[in-house]
Amino acid sequence: MINSDIPMEEVVEKRTMFASKLPRVGASIFSKMSSLANRLGAINLSQGFPDFPSDQKLIDLVNKYMLEGKNQYAPMTGLPSLLEKIALKMNKSYQSDLYGQKNITITSGATQAIYTCIAATINPGDEVIIFTPAYDCYAPAIELHGGKVIEVPLYPPDYKIDWDHVKGCLNPKTKMIIINTPHNPSGTVLEEVDFERLTELVRDTNILVLSDEVYEHIVFDEHSHKSIVGYPELFERSFATFSFGKTFHNTGWKMGYCVAPEWLTNEFRKIHQYLVFSCNAPIQYALSDYISDQSTYGQVSEMYEQKRDLFLNALEGSKFEYIPSKGTYFQLLDYSNISDEADTEFAVKLTEEKGIASIPTSVFYAGEVSPKVLRFCFAKKEETLLQAADILRTIGR
Ligand SMILES: Cc1ncc(COP(=O)(O)O)c(C=O)c1O
Repeated sequence: MINSDIPMEEVVEKRTMFASKLPRVGASIFSKMSSLANRLGAINLSQGFPDFPSDQKLIDLVNKYMLEGKNQYAPMTGLPSLLEKIALKMNKSYQSDLYGQKNITITSGATQAIYTCIAATINPGDEVIIFTPAYDCYAPAIELHGGKVIEVPLYPPDYKIDWDHVKGCLNPKTKMIIINTPHNPSGTVLEEVDFERLTELVRDTNILVLSDEVYEHIVFDEHSHKSIVGYPELFERSFATFSFGKTFHNTGWKMGYCVAPEWLTNEFRKIHQYLVFSCNAPIQYALSDYISDQSTYGQVSEMYEQKRDLFLNALEGSKFEYIPSKGTYFQLLDYSNISDEADTEFAVKLTEEKGIASIPTSVFYAGEVSPKVLRFCFAKKEETLLQAADILRTIGR
């Protein structure tokens, strides 16, 4: 706490009394691009959140439970009825054999779930393989626990995992491999063959897997979501993390869950109970009712596929190149036909001069990789997407 009676110089002095645990971490690109977009009144397709409301029915349920007085701590592991509903839903979708109390823990969003998985397992000197471009919370959590990030870069246009390269990275220090499907930012999905290769690689080792599946309900065309919970041999050594915020358009509620075999769930909960103890009670009551109806999540892919198609159709004739996103609510656009500038510069210029904010993909890599590719979020109203595409179509012409 900063005491306002202490002169500022002294406060600054005190702030330098220890070495930062994350010296290289500053404001995230998401905050930077969003604040630039807000300041300039630009269309904000940078940060990944919807600009349309969550279902009124779900909001009414939360209100109902608040008014009914469900406002005290929920059980540490999560509301039993919600845990069981999630288990049922997943067993049906992925032919798994999950039990709520044994395998599922409600978390404050997937970010907390991911952090807790890492905190529960990573010791100093452990190596963790991440595939870049990667969501930004993995590396800092690994480093905070003394782990070493081993980056396996994926390249445009198809961002496919080279499993032989992964094999070459394995050694006795390898503790965990983090996968993410559907993948932010590339919009790719892992296929059966990827899970087969991963299973072969970790067989007869002590390597754990963390599977970030927050976009499980946003998958397009002929693709379907393959969850690690549906691969028993692999799941026995895995955590899987999910986000209600992504599925139900309420990212600000920060609700998610972690699914794992019992032995890993026990370790997960040892940390969880001291990190957050338990998560928002009225929302858990509401979600438990809401997800009983399969239509609440069964049509999310279709809704986003229409948005993706609307955006891409409206981009027809532009100088950007792209492969349609297979999942998530992100679309990558390659601008090499338009400019030679670095993606960070091009993204700022696009915001300042054309009024559209996006995210440069180089920031999702740990090293020097810098493709001429920007990420656009299409979780937006039709008019926002059409307005954005109208501008993008003219760029470079
Ligand atoms: C790949 C990925 N994992 C995890 C998260 C975090 O989800 P939550 O908002 O539930 O913490 C996000 C959010 O953008 C994400 O894109």
